Amino acid sequence: MSTHAVCPGSFDPVTMGHVNIIQRAASLHDRVTVLVTANPNKPSGLFTVEERKELIRNALQHLPNIHVDHWSGLLVEYTTTHGVDTLVKGLRSSLDYDYELPMAQMNRKLAGIDTCFLMTDPKYGYISSTLCKEVTKYGGDVSDMLPEGVADAIRRKFSEQA
Ligand code: PNS
Repeated sequence: MSTHAVCPGSFDPVTMGHVNIIQRAASLHDRVTVLVTANPNKPSGLFTVEERKELIRNALQHLPNIHVDHWSGLLVEYTTTHGVDTLVKGLRSSLDYDYELPMAQMNRKLAGIDTCFLMTDPKYGYISSTLCKEVTKYGGDVSDMLPEGVADAIRRKFSEQA
């Protein structure tokens, strides 16, 4: 049976940590949709949804079974209407676990969908979109923590805003 997984997230922007999890999800499933999803707790992102999708597409163009989409409603509405079998997310630490557990349980209660957690590779354990933006904003270099072109895209955004 063919399996379809969704990796949901804000991806503002995609990092090497995300890429690593998505690549591993793509080796475990026939099809993986990277879903740029609205997070009501992070309303004002740096990148538009279309820009985020483009950066993800560029970073994952070498993988044939990846599709990039976006969704502004309830995540389980997307998974139910698109025949998704599993949600896949990365866990960096117990902080992520505490944040993710209620969402995983809520999604399972609402739609019966399970979330599979992949442990983040230790070399990406400290990387987050938020920290990468902050370090870049104050002139630091995080280009090796981001797919090619993403650090430049962050710098361009901040210079446009200045
Ligand atoms: O990368 P993030 O911001 O930690 O991802 C969180 C995200 C976007 C996956 C979560 O906020 C979400 O699922 N948003 C969609 C709306 C929804 O279904 N909310 C209820 C979650 S139980």
